Amino acid sequence: MQRSTSRLILRPPRADDLACVFAIHSDPETNQYNPAGPMTDISQAASMLDDWLSHWREKGFGQWAIATRDCPQQVIGFGGLSMRMYLDVERLNLGYRFAVSGWGQGYATELSLSALDYGFDELNAAAVFAVVRPAHMASIRVLEKIGMQRIESIDDVPGQPPSRVYKATRA
Ligand SMILES: CC(C)(COP(=O)(O)OP(=O)(O)OC[C@H]1O[C@@H](n2cnc3c(N)ncnc32)[C@H](O)[C@@H]1OP(=O)(O)O)[C@@H](O)C(=O)NCCC(=O)NCCS
Repeated sequence: MQRSTSRLILRPPRADDLACVFAIHSDPETNQYNPAGPMTDISQAASMLDDWLSHWREKGFGQWAIATRDCPQQVIGFGGLSMRMYLDVERLNLGYRFAVSGWGQGYATELSLSALDYGFDELNAAAVFAVVRPAHMASIRVLEKIGMQRIESIDDVPGQPPSRVYKATRA
């Protein structure tokens, strides 16, 4: 359920994370590459959080709320593994979104390495996937640093260049 890395605590989200979910997802900077854009109403965050809590209830894993060990009460981002349907198959998908104050310190890489370990060691997955917009160099860099390979493209945003699909397989 809860995991930790050398600097991070990864815990299941809770209903009282709502304000933080909205704060991070309504910031235009954290949604620069999100085709849907930033959230504009807290009901959107409530719906996302409901989906995360349902995923945890049904599957026993999902998005984590992320804090540093130094400041465990302050959530700095959300991310982890969840089942997501694309390219006609339901896939174990890695995703993450950190508050701007948490960027540039290697946290996404640290979270993602722990998520891959969790997928392979605890969920016994054969593969983990991720989807990223082609201009999102920071996120692409994270996926490449953790050893994921670009496998194909997906036309998921009408009228825009295709997103890249990345894959990691059990070592
Ligand atoms: C993308 C995101 C998760 C990265 O988080 P982070 O904790 O800053 O990432 P890390 O520090 O682990 O690694 C980022 C890497 O990208 C590099 N990078 C950052 N901006 C870059 C840019 N514009 N071009 C190329 N590389 C860039 C960093 O230098 C670092 O690589 P390095 O370790 O080789 O120096 C964070 O910016 C974020 O939450 N953004 C908003 C949400 C989002 O876009 N999520 C991803 C959707 S696919």
